[in-house]
Amino acid sequence: MTTPTHHLFVCGSFRANGTPAGACVKKASLQLVQYLQEEVDSRGLQGVVVSMTGCLNCCVNGPVVIDYPSGHWYKGVTEEVADEILEAIESGSGVAEAHLIPG
Ligand code: FES
Repeated sequence: MTTPTHHLFVCGSFRANGTPAGACVKKASLQLVQYLQEEVDSRGLQGVVVSMTGCLNCCVNGPVVIDYPSGHWYKGVTEEVADEILEAIESGSGVAEAHLIPG
């Protein structure tokens, strides 16, 4: 496996004891993981990997997705926002500015 060009980490709200219990999972972040993976596959996006994480400690912005190595943090990610993120990756701009969490 080569290093991903875009590794999308989706908050799964998992706590230290392994249970999902938080803002993102209550806003369908687990379904978002599946949606993103299906879209990455159907768009044939090479080098884009989707993973789930524990709570990212910015719950008010959930569902939260981080894109590494760019370091872009996205807030309120719905399927429509996920499409915008993937379209930005496809276009080469790499960032869906309207959905960034302010740094
Ligand atoms: S539950 Fe997603 S950032 Fe905390």
